[in-house]
Amino acid sequence: MTTSNSSFDVNRIRLDFPILKRQINGQPLIYFDNAATSQKPQQVIDAMVDYYQNYNANIHRGVHALSQEATDAYEKARQTLQVHFNVPKSNEVIFTSGTTHAINIVASGYTNFLKASDEILVSAMEHHSNIVPWQMLCERSGAKLLVIPMKTDGTLDMMAYSNLLSSQTKLVFVNHVSNTLGTINPIREIVDSAHQFGASVLVDGAQACSHLKVDVQALDVDFYVASAHKMCGPTGVGMLYGKTALLEKLPPYQGGGEMISEVTFERTTYAELPHKFEAGTPNICGGIAFGAAVDYLNKIGLDQIAKYENDLLEYATSALSEIDGLTIYGNAKRKTAVISFNVANIHPYDVGVILDKMGIAVRTGQHCTQPIMDYFGIPGTVRASFAFYNTYEEIDSFVVAVKKAVLMLT
Ligand code: ALA
Repeated sequence: MTTSNSSFDVNRIRLDFPILKRQINGQPLIYFDNAATSQKPQQVIDAMVDYYQNYNANIHRGVHALSQEATDAYEKARQTLQVHFNVPKSNEVIFTSGTTHAINIVASGYTNFLKASDEILVSAMEHHSNIVPWQMLCERSGAKLLVIPMKTDGTLDMMAYSNLLSSQTKLVFVNHVSNTLGTINPIREIVDSAHQFGASVLVDGAQACSHLKVDVQALDVDFYVASAHKMCGPTGVGMLYGKTALLEKLPPYQGGGEMISEVTFERTTYAELPHKFEAGTPNICGGIAFGAAVDYLNKIGLDQIAKYENDLLEYATSALSEIDGLTIYGNAKRKTAVISFNVANIHPYDVGVILDKMGIAVRTGQHCTQPIMDYFGIPGTVRASFAFYNTYEEIDSFVVAVKKAVLMLT
């Protein structure tokens, strides 16, 4: 049985995504690997084609018309991101190659600002990309990395977090949404507590931005990072937001063209924000398409998206829970449409392979979150992650397919 959110025309929306017409292994594609990367609407594809067909040129460099057009489009995309994330100033939006690049700019930049007695807090549910750069920072600086523990429902232990905070805490790193568990973390509460001790907070928004409306001022985050490809945009482009005072304090991450003010063999001075962190020719097409993707999401409306996806989540959770021996990891009250699960002793990889034969794309394994797997004592999970272009009918087919896979594997 299916239900529907009457104000949300998913069939109309699906027409925007050419890839959803594909057949995989003779079956209609059911794409439930949206947490790995989202699909791209025609509007974003068109923006990329338009750039390469009509005004491909390098930016911030030429007096010629094409260069000016490309520069205008790229800077307009920056402004789109500024407005979308409610960033106070457009030069606080730094284009990066993705979330990982954005995190590394900050991690690298803090090297000379930390000392051995300082502490860094990172949550137990982070992606490796929000763990390893901080471990590397600790190796360089001598600072200590402490872990904010998680509870069995996949939420952070906020009491333990309060107890870990001290005057030694300099930085706190936490994801807005867990890529594996779907948990939506209480960012404002985390930020307020950290600020009481003078610590800065970086939030990894990679898994949040396509599901929630993010307002960096309302959250009062010090840094917020995101990737376009999770938000219907292309791969290879992302965003670092930082408060001006912090970004100005950090040294450049890479040296090169674009990030300089003056260069002599004796001394180089650096460009103002945001260019200080944008060395070299950027992903111009990607940046423009990132703006188009944000426009596309806003046209549908993130509140509408969040409501529809939450309905899908509840529907799928309830149907999957009826399967004997199936365990869902991550049962936070506030979560996005991600379901990580295992069935009895069946290896997640085997389930994933059988689902693929039925045209269903899910991710299996550790999802770049080995500490979460270690916490639950499991080798990995099957992860179904939904987007606003998925349907109740697809979930029905998915549940039937999981049941078939279980029968075949037991
Ligand atoms: N971080 C992406 C995921 O969770 C790749 O699948």
